[in-house]
Amino acid sequence: MTFTGNPSSNRYEFGANWASFVDKHYSTERRQVAADKLLSFLGKQSLEGMDFLDIGSGSGLHSLAAFDAKADRIHSFDFDPLSVSTTGRLRKLAGDPPNWAVERGDVLDADYLEALGTWSLVYSWGVLHHTGAMWQAIENAARRVGPGGLFFIALYSSNVVTPSAQFWLNVKRRYNAANPRQRRWIQCWYIWRFGLGRNPLRLPMLLKQIREKKKGRGMSYMTDVRDWLGGWPMEFADDQAVIDFLKQRFDFEIVRISTGEACTEFLFQNPGKVQSKPN
Ligand SMILES: C[S@@+](CC[C@H](N)C(=O)[O-])C[C@H]1O[C@@H](n2cnc3c(N)ncnc32)[C@H](O)[C@@H]1O
Repeated sequence: MTFTGNPSSNRYEFGANWASFVDKHYSTERRQVAADKLLSFLGKQSLEGMDFLDIGSGSGLHSLAAFDAKADRIHSFDFDPLSVSTTGRLRKLAGDPPNWAVERGDVLDADYLEALGTWSLVYSWGVLHHTGAMWQAIENAARRVGPGGLFFIALYSSNVVTPSAQFWLNVKRRYNAANPRQRRWIQCWYIWRFGLGRNPLRLPMLLKQIREKKKGRGMSYMTDVRDWLGGWPMEFADDQAVIDFLKQRFDFEIVRISTGEACTEFLFQNPGKVQSKPN
């Protein structure tokens, strides 16, 4: 079952949140954590010999992780111009490498995607459910995976969402319609109700969670809270429906899945034979 937000309403300003994340929280420690986490889910020591397409690069931290993991070539794109410029800042930090391109692009633009060709690793973490047309976005992204290539995506799961998907869609509508002061109140409400479970004695536990947040993917607690409250358009996907869709449409095999968090992480492989490169 998929719950669909209203794609015709305003988009959340993801890029501003990512610019603020890099301004306030970028560190070499987060950079290292992001690379470790990327490689660990892929079950690899490095990305040598692979190219990396980052769809919806956000801050750019995971493109930077792919660069640090020695991907041969990286292409990062995002719909939001501020996400693009923030990814560009991290590319600059990496020394403006010529094998890493950053630009504005829309995963729903089939012609743009087609022109990108195919890649041995297509990565899209927490993006495709924010396009307003999630299944089309999954299909467009999957088409960029070359024969034998990997497809690493993360999608908000309808299997774990509490109290309900409809509850969060309503919260998000209110958050996006709110002014900055009202948004801060909604953030406080969220922390009180869901961070602390309405129990001030849980504060030490929450503080530990905030400190340890960066150990996940190098992210920050408040950046994620704002992204969760604001992220719009928004859909939720059933984990099995995603696996079935990619099997039926592309014959992709599921290699690894991580469930239980708001976003389910999936690693698929395109079973097509790798074409040998001409000499
Ligand atoms: C939740 S953020 C995830 C960012 C990054 N992938 C990460 O894991 O940190 C979602 C990103 O997807 C981008 N996005 C939304 N719709 C998009 C589209 N149609 N095409 C490309 N990027 C899109 C947003 O601008 C935002 O930067």
